[in-house]
Amino acid sequence: MNRVRAFAACAIIGLSLAIILPGCDNSPQASAATSPGSGSSPTNSVPNPTAGTTTPTDASANSPATETSADEYVVGHYASMTGSEATFGKSTDDGIKLAIEEINAAGGVKGKKFRLITYDDQGKGQEAATAVTRLITRDKVVAVLGEVASSRSIAGGQVAQQNGVPMITPSSTNASVTEIGDMISRVCFIDPFQGFVCAKFVRDNLKLSTAATLYDRTQAYSAGLNDDFKKAFTELGGKIVTEQAYAGGDADFSAQLTNIRDKNPDVIFIPGYYTEAGNIAMQVRKLGLKSVLIGGDGWDSAKLAEIGGQAIEGAYYSNHYSDEEQRPAVQDFVKKYKEKYGAVPDGLAALGYDAMRLLADAMTRAKSTSGKDLAEAINSTKDFAGVTGVITIDAERNARKPAVILKMQGGRPRYAATIQPK
Ligand code: PHE
Repeated sequence: MNRVRAFAACAIIGLSLAIILPGCDNSPQASAATSPGSGSSPTNSVPNPTAGTTTPTDASANSPATETSADEYVVGHYASMTGSEATFGKSTDDGIKLAIEEINAAGGVKGKKFRLITYDDQGKGQEAATAVTRLITRDKVVAVLGEVASSRSIAGGQVAQQNGVPMITPSSTNASVTEIGDMISRVCFIDPFQGFVCAKFVRDNLKLSTAATLYDRTQAYSAGLNDDFKKAFTELGGKIVTEQAYAGGDADFSAQLTNIRDKNPDVIFIPGYYTEAGNIAMQVRKLGLKSVLIGGDGWDSAKLAEIGGQAIEGAYYSNHYSDEEQRPAVQDFVKKYKEKYGAVPDGLAALGYDAMRLLADAMTRAKSTSGKDLAEAINSTKDFAGVTGVITIDAERNARKPAVILKMQGGRPRYAATIQPK
């Protein structure tokens, strides 16, 4: 639990409030938030939510809490709607909204419909904690969905646990997230498995044996997955030739990559998020390194190919689903998502959709909407048919599901393999 505490402490230090954005099911997408450091005065007073992309709401419409009516369920979502992981928040939010639209159209749960409030945490841990506090204390949400990045789920999860409100993270894979307590669950697999998946693919499918790693030491996800990969790769008979680190936001990786070039590894494992992964790929090829590049789910963004260009072609990453899987659940979801948003859904959209639908399913079974009863219903979910696979919440409140390996080809991820849970 030490790692959990360390990340939570970081999150609680920053108490200043950003202007955060409520979104609702029918409103346009929430957009740019003002960050505390960029000109707005930090405040502890009621934030000034902005509905839609440009039009601020008037002050009287400021309080989502006052709009809460007894005949609806308010669900909270905290997400990186802006910043260098902006596609994580946006895709997840779109997936959640599609699920709510369908659930509401079918009559809701026990006669009540759902309303979503989304706050932008700008990809910052302290804003994540602030957003969850606000969702719980002011907006009185029945449950919280989020975050994508594990460090931010750890920050927000501490708040949800302390307040006794259930939180489901759609996509945070670091094992410590659900160790926070019984209020916290997830609908995705965890990184000890994901590290194994990447290692096994390199050893068994690519038949390669030496690896360098380059990870983000500021993210619990990246540091954890780096360790999990190293362990699995070594156990499978591979050799780690060097391990290098960077800090999220870095743009120059030449020192680390020069060290890696000296070792001439078969593969470079880069368990970071897509912005840095794209930049790293560019610099790898500029240095003339020919190693195969491999990453984890943190690469899953349409921005990866935009940033990485030709340099990311032929690279592989593990993920929670592929839009090319022929399972009917996948093809049905892809079709509906394309109709609504005009884009192919990434893994985050699928996981957001699954998390919201699983929550609604649990609510049909829950004795009441109290945090305790609802968490109990969520935690006893069995064989829930999700887009990303069949979801059973286990005793550690994690989901055990297969992973897919995707290969970047022609500027988009193509399905390459499925790896089953151990
Ligand atoms: N698993 C990543 C984390 O825990 C988040 C992520 C999931 C990113 C899926 C992209 C796709 O930080």
